[in-house]
Amino acid sequence: MFSSRHNISSRRSKHLRALLTVLSVAFMACFLHSCGTDALVSPQNTVTFAPNLSEYGIYQGSASALQPTERFVAYSLPSALFTDYAEKQRLIRVPDGKQLTVVSDELPDFPDGTMLVKTFFYFHDKRDTAKGKRILETRLLVKNGEQWSVAVYRWNDAQTDATLHTSGFDTNVDWIDASGVGRTTAYHIPNNRECATCHQANGTILPIGPKMRNLNLSHARNGAVVSQLQHFRQRGVIGNIELLRIGSVPRTDDHSVSLQERSRAYLDINCAHCHSTTGYAADQGLDFRYATPLGETGIAASKNDILARMQSGSMPLLGTNLADRDGIALLTAYFNTLP
Ligand code: HEC
Ligand code: HEC
Repeated sequence: MFSSRHNISSRRSKHLRALLTVLSVAFMACFLHSCGTDALVSPQNTVTFAPNLSEYGIYQGSASALQPTERFVAYSLPSALFTDYAEKQRLIRVPDGKQLTVVSDELPDFPDGTMLVKTFFYFHDKRDTAKGKRILETRLLVKNGEQWSVAVYRWNDAQTDATLHTSGFDTNVDWIDASGVGRTTAYHIPNNRECATCHQANGTILPIGPKMRNLNLSHARNGAVVSQLQHFRQRGVIGNIELLRIGSVPRTDDHSVSLQERSRAYLDINCAHCHSTTGYAADQGLDFRYATPLGETGIAASKNDILARMQSGSMPLLGTNLADRDGIALLTAYFNTLP
């Protein structure tokens, strides 16, 4: 399915210009904030991606229904990265006869050939999803030769297929939110280099969401509440591991859990991919990873700074223009309990 050369598209000069812009912005940011230049990893794709998403056989029937084929298993996370209220679908495909190897609560070992798929869309009217949706992009992470390659596909207006898009793209999106209010945002499809900003630790491209503790949850599937890991086992994605030994992260909207735990879960999925000792913003000294004991995260000292940056919509750094009201409300409530 994949050949093994890095694909430089015919839009080479456009791509280069975009790359140079990103590079100079990144260098400026580093110059101003003294972050290490080693954080500027660029993705070294070892697979050549197909020009059209349809070539991967991810969806069956009408593509816009986002109905995955048998080989792709949908999964969900206890809480998700906020990206201006976009809806997401996440899928995993492991090659036939292969499985994930569980080593800890962190990322499992993914067999070569694993494909992770994340599709972004907006319901026209969140109050009535039957009115349809606008699908914007599908992002892929593919493991090949012990290394992850990245790609993003932009959906066409007819919503029949999506094409490979390496240089980023901006488009306005309008929708009606859950409370009936008309919303709009300048939506940004990231370029390959931006993927690497978030999807790296110590300069290596990595998935973020499918850590074992994030996958260990119960959720609704075909009308019944089931354990996601049990479902993975049935679908052959994982083997007979001892499920009881795997930790879990609470949902950020689970009010039976303490504010502190919910806030940790929020910061982990929204901020920790950059703010950790190995991430893009390592120099900032904040460590928001769920596994880091709270006393060592620098949260108490930075609480005003954290809220200010979230309110202005400037953190998370990429992919957001709007402030995440629910996230801000959660962290404000939690910070009010701190000395
Ligand atoms: C602003 C940071 C950020 C950028 C930029 C970004 N991602 Fe992600 N991505 C995340 C986070 C956080 C998750 C996990 C949480 C979730 O799925 O909501 C994720 C999840 C994914 C997933 C599902 C598997 C996983 O790692 O959790 C894929 C596939 C993916 N991203 C691909 C890409 C590609 C390809 C690009 C570039 C075109 C990209 N991402 C850009 C932060 C980012
Ligand atoms: C895509 C990477 C990325 C993500 C995701 C991200 N940040 Fe940042 N953050 C940075 C970088 C780079 C800096 C330093 C440059 C700057 O200040 O803009 C920074 C700076 C900060 C600072 C200032 C640090 C200080 O010591 O004054 C705070 C506070 C902060 N971020 C909070 C957050 C929070 C909260 C989130 C999640 C809601 C988040 N960030 C998500 C990259 C990121």
